[in-house]
Amino acid sequence: MTNIIDQVSLGAIVQVRDRLLEQTARGRKVLRLESGDPSFDIPIHVREAMEKALRDGLTHYTASTGIQPLREAITRKVTGENGLTVASPDSVVVTNGGMHGLYILFRALLDPGDEVILPDPMWTEIGENIRLASGIPVPVRLPPEAGYQYNPLEIESAVTDRTRAIFVNTPHNPTGAVADRITLEAIAAIAEKHNLLLVSDEAYEHVIFDDEKHTSLGSIPAAQGRTVSVFSMSKTYAMSGLRLGYLVLNDALTLDRIKKLVRCTINGVNSVTQYGAAAALNAPQDATRAMAREYQLRRDILFDALEESPYVKAFKPHGAFYMWARIQPDWPGYDGKADDWSMTNYLIDQSAIGSAPGSAFGPAGAGHIRFAFSCSTAQVREAASLLPGALQAAKK
Ligand SMILES: Cc1ncc(COP(=O)(O)O)c(C=O)c1O
Repeated sequence: MTNIIDQVSLGAIVQVRDRLLEQTARGRKVLRLESGDPSFDIPIHVREAMEKALRDGLTHYTASTGIQPLREAITRKVTGENGLTVASPDSVVVTNGGMHGLYILFRALLDPGDEVILPDPMWTEIGENIRLASGIPVPVRLPPEAGYQYNPLEIESAVTDRTRAIFVNTPHNPTGAVADRITLEAIAAIAEKHNLLLVSDEAYEHVIFDDEKHTSLGSIPAAQGRTVSVFSMSKTYAMSGLRLGYLVLNDALTLDRIKKLVRCTINGVNSVTQYGAAAALNAPQDATRAMAREYQLRRDILFDALEESPYVKAFKPHGAFYMWARIQPDWPGYDGKADDWSMTNYLIDQSAIGSAPGSAFGPAGAGHIRFAFSCSTAQVREAASLLPGALQAAKK
């Protein structure tokens, strides 16, 4: 029998990053549009709270599910802002980033062979974490013609007697689509009808543009009591390297399992990061709003550049910091290949621009390319100035 871990990839973005680092070693300046890591510094009050925690010697083991002041701050935030019903701070579990939260969550929810419906395309790690928990990811295509909104009819027709949960991510990685409330209500109704759990990944809840509003799935009446909400401090506060996320759920058995998994995996997140996270949540949210405005500016710069470029048709995202573009059929390919890797490789070699090949995000991602605009505005501007010419130069 093969080990399930052998079915998990080492990651397309890691491969792109390695190729970009090779270019750097050759003295080339590279533009890091391959991965979603915020360019910003953490807010000053977060840094100060972490420095204070260090000075005060708060460097010991903490409660494995998180320090009480942080779980209280999270409880206030998710009830006040997200509209979740939370029994008490005991319903909050602090994790080593959203990624670790997803890993332990699927381990806690799934028995071997349980199915989880998820969008296609989707950030690769979701399907992989489902597989690592011996579950089966069941992709349901997000229709481009409907602006990548979830299709409740298709979701319902994917339900089988092995379906355990429906996974929803909004704002969505990789398309940047923001699910509207009516669609989320329809998904919650399906979960209620078939007695399914809902997993709501809200890592990008604050990276949102124009007049769009983020709706938390767990706030919808039909979703209450059956939703596990996954949040991250990485994107909202640019705390990606500090590694802090949190799960919010009320189901006693799942909570119990998750607590055991936290104890046996990380036994608590880095104490200093936890004090920084509490400060982030308790302070005014101006820094987060300023970051969202800057991401929107970058989105517009990049979108205009792709509109001027041959071979790609970009979707203008309403949230998250990714530009998802369909590669056009006249793309001449590169090194004799016409798949999406060929455009990613071409842009690295031609202009040292990073991107992620769409096929890394699931079957519906084939023939697409994703550009992240979380790197600095200067890098986004430079990439935008190079992209039309670089793609033009591919003309045979
Ligand atoms: C959709 C989605 N969920 C969750 C995460 C988890 O982020 P982190 O582990 O940094 O909290 C990411 C990170 O890119 C993401 O794209």
